[in-house]
Amino acid sequence: ARPDALPRDLHGLRVVVSAGGTREPLDPVRYLGNRSSGKQGYALARVAAQRGAEVVLVAAHTAALPEPAGVDLRHVSTALEMRDAVLEAAQAADVVVMAAAVADFRPAARAEHKIKKSEDRPDPEISLVRNPDILAELVENRKPDQVIVGFAAETGDEQGSVLDHARAKLRRKGCDLLVVNAVGDGRAFEVEDNAGWLLAADGTERAIPLGSKAQLAATLWDAVSEYGKR
Ligand code: CTP
Ligand code: CA
Repeated sequence: ARPDALPRDLHGLRVVVSAGGTREPLDPVRYLGNRSSGKQGYALARVAAQRGAEVVLVAAHTAALPEPAGVDLRHVSTALEMRDAVLEAAQAADVVVMAAAVADFRPAARAEHKIKKSEDRPDPEISLVRNPDILAELVENRKPDQVIVGFAAETGDEQGSVLDHARAKLRRKGCDLLVVNAVGDGRAFEVEDNAGWLLAADGTERAIPLGSKAQLAATLWDAVSEYGKR
């Protein structure tokens, strides 16, 4: 469908979407990062704007992606910067979607100068500290009727299936909706298609069929508008 052929059913809705992977600096030239491409968050922002929503896109590091039309794009780098930008934008939002891959940890110290090898000193060790959990802070400071959406990439293991882990994460995080991607076999990261589940705090669970990130975005915005009317 042409963009202008989409229904403007999200008109009047103010949404914040986070996207991409944060980078946590070790020194002026090095960082800890992750493989997030940002494609899912960008697709969410683009589709929401096409359907008439007012969109703030808080983007960390992404693959080279075209800037979505009609979106207020704000760039950040670290998890701490993302937290400030997301919490600020969330003040005036009806919906917040955390599609970003936020680093759980950052180096405890950022060296002022480039770290050098030395024959006199032992090789360095990196010590890490916990980053704030932005989704948890959003839930703590939730505005009345605000809908908060998390993303999770899970694999099954001895502790349980993908769905078991996802249900536990939804309860732990306290968000309204959780999009769960089943990962492994090269799925979800750096690929075009997603598959998984959409879990709601009211116990509703639906499977998301394998499809494009734009299709997943459409499914999520449908679920968000339904959830808002409950
Ligand atoms: N998230 C966040 N802030 C963090 C870490 C994660 O807001 N510091 C958000 C992500 O954007 C995502 C959701 O929380 O929407 C779930 O992320 P995930 O990494 O799956 O959850 P964690 O609680 O970090 O659990 P895990 O130990 O499995 O990584
Ligand atoms: Ca994590």
